[in-house]
Amino acid sequence: MTGTTSAIPRPLVMGVETSCDETSVAVLGGDNRILGHVILSQDKHKVFGGVVPELAARAHLQKIDAVAREALGQAGVSLQDIDVFGVTAGPGLIGALLVGVCWTKAAAFALRKPLIAVHHMEAHLFGASMDDPTAEPPFVGLLVSGGHTLLLYAEAWGRYRLLGQTRDDAAGEAFDKVAKLLGLAYPGGPEIERVAADGDPDRHRLPRPMLRGGQSPSDGDYFDFSFSGLKTAVVELVRRLGEEGVPNAERPHVAAAFQEAAVDVLASKTMRAVEETGCDRVLVGGGVSANRRLREELKTRLGPEGRLFHASPRLSLDNGAMVARTARFRFDLGQVAPPEATAAADLAFPGLTDRMS
Ligand code: KG4
Ligand code: ZN
Repeated sequence: MTGTTSAIPRPLVMGVETSCDETSVAVLGGDNRILGHVILSQDKHKVFGGVVPELAARAHLQKIDAVAREALGQAGVSLQDIDVFGVTAGPGLIGALLVGVCWTKAAAFALRKPLIAVHHMEAHLFGASMDDPTAEPPFVGLLVSGGHTLLLYAEAWGRYRLLGQTRDDAAGEAFDKVAKLLGLAYPGGPEIERVAADGDPDRHRLPRPMLRGGQSPSDGDYFDFSFSGLKTAVVELVRRLGEEGVPNAERPHVAAAFQEAAVDVLASKTMRAVEETGCDRVLVGGGVSANRRLREELKTRLGPEGRLFHASPRLSLDNGAMVARTARFRFDLGQVAPPEATAAADLAFPGLTDRMS
């Protein structure tokens, strides 16, 4: 260790994220301060209107060394200074995950340092807590990304009770598919939000799947989501609006109506969880949590007594800092990955128990 790095609180944790189309590496100090952080978004998928898994894996492999070097440079430390290596081991695209896991495992093995396998969605919970020291459990957690939609109750870090999840498409996937239908670029979420700003959300009425009056917590779908039906309703609406696709003038209104329906369902189910648990502290994480309309609606429904925690836009999307933060939590519990650790596309959420148990 050099003279300057000796002043940095230990352990120094590196977080590596390659589960989808962001190659990202962060270095965190022992006080959880972000010392270096690089997020490289792959734009080669734009022309395909979605992430091409093999292209994503190859791009991670090409860029990961440079991204890690840049993050270390920002932190003013060398790879040898890192005390703990954390990596997203799942869920995600398996080829993409394997690049991060192999790279991080090699570094940890060569330097004889502990390796921590991180769950991507738990990392999104920690990501939403990093900008606010009061963002601590207990809270109702709403995780909304391109691959997952989960509603849970966090009693403590690492102790989560599942309340609801999507039965088909994830929230972000619905934003991406509707954007594609409207001829907007990938990723669709930010595009829908941008276009919807000029639209009237009440011009077209779209359904709120699995949201009905008279439902009770004992109903199977009380906390669950379904976004594929909403997408199909948009397909129908688009077909009614014109044979050749949506007229330009209608596009903002369709985008606004879809965003309103998605936000209404997400906020309503979250408020059901608030009521059920008696906890009016809500933490929202994952890419879709960058949506301002969603945050605004959650804040309004929570009222002045409730609290809403969310990440900055940079930490809402996939990033290495949230992986490093989660790795630090699991490292403190002594949960070091065994030498045979690998990636799993459907990795189980650690500490998440079913709503029935
Ligand atoms: O968490 P994330 O970066 O990656 C995954 O873990 O999947 O989430 C990506 C998703 C994409 O579906 C993207 O369209 C959506 O988050 N997203 C948004 C917004 N920004 C990103 N959805 C709605 N509004 C946004 N502003
Ligand atoms: Zn994510």
